[in-house]
Amino acid sequence: MALTPEIETLIRRLPKVELHLHIEGTLEPEMVFAKAARHAVTLPYPSVEALRAAYAFGDLQSFLDIYYAGCDVLRDEDDFHDLCWAYLERAHADGVVHVEIFFDPQTHTARGVPYATVHRGLRRALADGQQKLGISSAMILCFLRHLSEEDAFATLEQAGPFVGELAGVGLDSGERGNPPRKFERVFAAARALGLKPVAHAGEEGPAAYIREALDLLQVVRVDHGVRCDEDPALVAELAARRMPLTVCPLSNTKLRVYQRMEDHNLARLLAAGVCVTVNSDDPAYFGGYIADNYRAVAAALPLGAAELVQLARNAVEASWLPAARKDELVAQIAAVA
Ligand code: ADE
Ligand code: ZN
Repeated sequence: MALTPEIETLIRRLPKVELHLHIEGTLEPEMVFAKAARHAVTLPYPSVEALRAAYAFGDLQSFLDIYYAGCDVLRDEDDFHDLCWAYLERAHADGVVHVEIFFDPQTHTARGVPYATVHRGLRRALADGQQKLGISSAMILCFLRHLSEEDAFATLEQAGPFVGELAGVGLDSGERGNPPRKFERVFAAARALGLKPVAHAGEEGPAAYIREALDLLQVVRVDHGVRCDEDPALVAELAARRMPLTVCPLSNTKLRVYQRMEDHNLARLLAAGVCVTVNSDDPAYFGGYIADNYRAVAAALPLGAAELVQLARNAVEASWLPAARKDELVAQIAAVA
């Protein structure tokens, strides 16, 4: 269904908060080629168009294989800065006012790029984002769940000198066969350092993984979480606790969690009182940034202006911003509603 001009205007004008964004997932094919040329890396694709054409995924793993391979062109501090800055410029154009970004240090340290290089490049871009674009931000270090607990502990240790600049830790990569319980101890260590815990759960994995993330990792948000509806008691608990879900609609259809956007449960979860938010996950790979995700759900699901405003308010509520800033943003949302 086409969007009405009123809904299109509302989506464009809503102040947006993005809570599920992998910075490595903002690596556009044009930047892959630019960075490859800079580092004299030969790519297995002849052109930007050929690389973009390879972005047809059957499931999460087929995406992750291409996503991790693309990261090979990110080698020095400027690369991480440029990647993050390009995202911030796009996000600004989409009306993003605050972002809590994920990054995957193990993807880079495994290639010999020091943790500090990644952190410093991202930090510089985020500082520029605050100063030049007025976008506030937070950094969330993600552990790769297909790797070992020991590797996650080593990563937390490498981040040691920078821990004061991190807001939280997350858990991503291939979900099936890598349950949250595998990382119970490293999450406890991260929480003891003052880091807020979040985890991908219930994207491809079962509702039981969401339960584990809540009970064992003590997460304060669930990333994706859409498979919660296999367990009605869990949905009721998420709603009662106002436990946020960072849902990524275009990701879910591109990775075949849902065959069609019309099948997505976002509107039903919202109506059930769950604190659902809209996010872009890996926008360079999934065909759209955050405003496109709002447009896609508005076009396919029973969501009117009031529900779109509620989604934007939920993201403010679910963020880690100070209360005074949350109040300001809620007022700004009300002003465009
Ligand atoms: N890493 C980047 N995007 C991801 C996703 N959607 N699920 C799990 N790991 C990821
Ligand atoms: Zn994700």
